[in-house]
Amino acid sequence: MAADQRGKAATLALRRRLLSSSCRLFFPEDPIKIVRGQGQYMYDEQGAEYIDCINNVAHVGHCHPLVVQAAHEQNQVLNTNSRYLHDNIVDYAQRLSKTLPEKLCVFYFLNSGSEANDLALRLARQYTGHWDVVVLDHAYHGHLSSLIDISPYKFRDLDGQKEWVHVAPLPDTYRGPYREDHPNPAVAYASEVKRVVSSAQEKGRKIAAFFAESLPSVGGQIIPPAGYFPEVAGHIRRAGGVFVADEIQVGFGRVGKHFWAFQLQGEDFVPDIVTMGKSIGNGHPVACVATTQAVARAFEATGVEYFNTFGGSPVSCAVGLAVLDVLEKEQLQAHAACVGSFLMELLGQQKAKHPILGDIRGVGLFIGVDLIKDEATRMPATEEADYVVSRLKENYILLSTDGPGRNVLKFKPPMCFSLDNARHVVAKLDAILTDMEEKVRSCETLRLHS
Ligand SMILES: Cc1ncc(COP(=O)(O)O)c(C=O)c1O
Repeated sequence: MAADQRGKAATLALRRRLLSSSCRLFFPEDPIKIVRGQGQYMYDEQGAEYIDCINNVAHVGHCHPLVVQAAHEQNQVLNTNSRYLHDNIVDYAQRLSKTLPEKLCVFYFLNSGSEANDLALRLARQYTGHWDVVVLDHAYHGHLSSLIDISPYKFRDLDGQKEWVHVAPLPDTYRGPYREDHPNPAVAYASEVKRVVSSAQEKGRKIAAFFAESLPSVGGQIIPPAGYFPEVAGHIRRAGGVFVADEIQVGFGRVGKHFWAFQLQGEDFVPDIVTMGKSIGNGHPVACVATTQAVARAFEATGVEYFNTFGGSPVSCAVGLAVLDVLEKEQLQAHAACVGSFLMELLGQQKAKHPILGDIRGVGLFIGVDLIKDEATRMPATEEADYVVSRLKENYILLSTDGPGRNVLKFKPPMCFSLDNARHVVAKLDAILTDMEEKVRSCETLRLHS
């Protein structure tokens, strides 16, 4: 039976029987069965069209024909591993190197963001001879055991914090200790990292790495103040550690102004290791680690081979190359800058109208809308955010929430998201918020009269 011929209820029943409930669905009370994707749209089994505002994996658009074709053509000829000479892997490394600062010139190819971050951890430890890691609060860096350990978002609900992990506050200028009125939040938040490093060192610990998403997404679509990373890198390198920029959600032109989100932190800032995933393969399992000669040489010095069965295969590299081609051909980085600033402007206009919209922050097509109970406390409007997301879904718009308070609406759509999509989504959001406010007002009136 073709998958799209089975009714939604039958699929759900089978899934419940065969898959662990740890593997969750979006909208568990009424999940969506998606059978087709194209561009920024996904279609359910009835043919209903949803606008996808969250899938940053389908970076250049769901099922982009050029990416699909590249995979198909290479699949017809050869798919093997990286132990044979093949042009795709070297062409791909060369193309990626052109997007990065010169120093980041050694590449490893893998299959998932988690694998990339796990390798980054090994590289950092081997290079520095140290073991410990500093991470940002609420961060998520992957699902492997090693990464759960450095992901406060996960380990807080599990075994807790390991002695080799040190947590620094999120550089969140809306909710954190240093806010928009602080004269230099970049230095202030970086000093927090310094404090965390010093307190670890006092206990005899040695720092191997600082890991951070270039724009913390799970932490609530946070835009670290410019200059924060260079300051942090100074503190970390003085402690003998390296700086790892996790670009898994935010790289490949999403931020518009630059190809990599860490470049928002200053022209001269260069991480020691950059990890890539998700968008890199437009849905095909591809990931990459880029690092410096010095880090790579230290890893090589062990004499132990790095081998990954599927990473860097001719097909994966053909896919990666096709994604870069499409980004260039369709000028999607510039498009993200243009549509992103238009969307920010539209959302900004709504802020004047709806007091629940506390903060609207973003860069390119990475935008967060922080919903609050009231301006004075900035208390997260968690239930309201949940309600808005479910009402948007009824309107065939897919959005979700992030942040420790699960109150930040996150926009990170495929890069072909259009000006019309932005207008449509904001109009629906406006209607939902207006309706919600009217309902609250009539409840209050009822209460006053009862
Ligand atoms: C910032 C970040 N790093 C790493 C990962 C792990 O990537 P993967 O799920 O491909 O293993 C994710 C996945 O959500 C992520 O968001």
